Amino acid sequence: MKAPAVLWFYCVLFLRNTNALSNHTFPTWFKFGAATASYQVEGAWNEDGKGENIWDRFTHRNSSRIKNHANGDVACDSYHKYKQDVQLLKQLGVDFYRFSISWSRILPTGYPDQVNKAGAQYYKNLIKELKANNIEPYVTIYHWDLPQPLQEIGGWLNDKLVDIFAEYARTLFSLYGNDVKHWFTFNEPRQICYEGYGIGEKAPGLKLPGTGPYKCAHVLIKSHAKAYHVYQENFKEKQGGKLGMVVDTDWYEPATSHPLDREAAERTLQFRWGWYVHPLVFGNYPKIMIERVARRSKLEGFEVSRLPTFTSEEINYIKGTFDFLGFNQYSTSLVKHRPEPEIGIPSYDNDMGTFIYRDPTWERGASDWLYVVPWGIGKALKWIKSNYGDPEIIVTENGFSDHDGTLEDYKRIDYLQSYLSSILDAIHEDGVKVTRYTAWSLMDNFEWYSGYTEKFGLFHVDFQSKHRTRKAKKSVDFYRNVIKSRKLNKCNSKTDS
Ligand code: BGC
Repeated sequence: MKAPAVLWFYCVLFLRNTNALSNHTFPTWFKFGAATASYQVEGAWNEDGKGENIWDRFTHRNSSRIKNHANGDVACDSYHKYKQDVQLLKQLGVDFYRFSISWSRILPTGYPDQVNKAGAQYYKNLIKELKANNIEPYVTIYHWDLPQPLQEIGGWLNDKLVDIFAEYARTLFSLYGNDVKHWFTFNEPRQICYEGYGIGEKAPGLKLPGTGPYKCAHVLIKSHAKAYHVYQENFKEKQGGKLGMVVDTDWYEPATSHPLDREAAERTLQFRWGWYVHPLVFGNYPKIMIERVARRSKLEGFEVSRLPTFTSEEINYIKGTFDFLGFNQYSTSLVKHRPEPEIGIPSYDNDMGTFIYRDPTWERGASDWLYVVPWGIGKALKWIKSNYGDPEIIVTENGFSDHDGTLEDYKRIDYLQSYLSSILDAIHEDGVKVTRYTAWSLMDNFEWYSGYTEKFGLFHVDFQSKHRTRKAKKSVDFYRNVIKSRKLNKCNSKTDS
């Protein structure tokens, strides 16, 4: 089909679906952004004094675990092309850019002994360029790229990282805090701990399914709390910023209305989201996690629970360490009751003890875990509001992947439109305090173990060209229209092309 025919067809498709589209308007205080992460876009992996990190090591030494043996050595080359990136953001008309800082670019060994001037300057330049274009910098302190020397001492399994991380965070607050008013300590701690230290699919690739994820999470949560206190005590008054953590979860829908399936879905939410957010809001892990891991650990012959415990001092220290909750969501899963898994190999999955799957009739993205279920995000937002004290929520990531990176990305538009619609309804009809939305991602980039085979970008990047040329996809027009009009329009994709 030629382009206009495709557009017409697409618009008619939407007209059929308009009932489902929210008529509400995004309030004036609502802000829009786009996101990336250092390892996924920057490249320049060993330039200007940057140290090696665990993703450099993982991709170089275990290249067979990444699709097509890809790595982030060059990625989108944003280290050299950041001015172009800011122009892309400007073209979108976003209010903010959420990017992450590469720890080993600032502190090459990971330890806060010496700041690498060139690395620090890179982010100064990026922030300056953003501000000059009226785009607010939103900074993720840690998006998965731990300096390799810190992995040598055990990485997130070592309690020493609590102080080391807090000092790294302090370095960033001092360097950039006058300009940065939104800080995110960790991006998706579950992926760091479960995939990095449990099933080993992400760096550092450790397979310790029954203990690794819990120990890692324990250290991360304490590190987050310490960074929060460092900010509160030394910077907050002068800099006036806000700080939170970014936690991801699917929405977990009970497969049937049977009480056991409902219980299983709730338990899954507690193991996935509650694991991190419960401590931040209430000071400790969800009761169901504490009970189940303790019970199973005992039957397995452990003297103490595999889930570490917080002291009462730690509980008080951790409780309330957030100004907002960062929330990443892409998809939804169905959950069924699973008879208690046999006592055998200890694992986080057996501790959770639920059966998780997707409805095969749901529309899919390129990533095997990404199903298009817009109502899921609305349900999740309501669930967070009612279970975690009605916090401010920033949707820190949401987006759609395809394999071909097509410029005519109508499926992405459809996805974004329907998820935004669900968010709008959650704000207006359920009073959920969602204040910001962030599209993942600004541009196609290195998608972890999938290499460059799953593309989430609003902008296409030509990875065959040494210039890493960026080109707008149709979704750029769509998102720009939403931001400008502050509402959803069934033919948004057509009107501004
Ligand atoms: C991560 C991103 C990733 C995206 C799509 C999130 O899990 O924060 O780094 O690229 O989802 O998989």
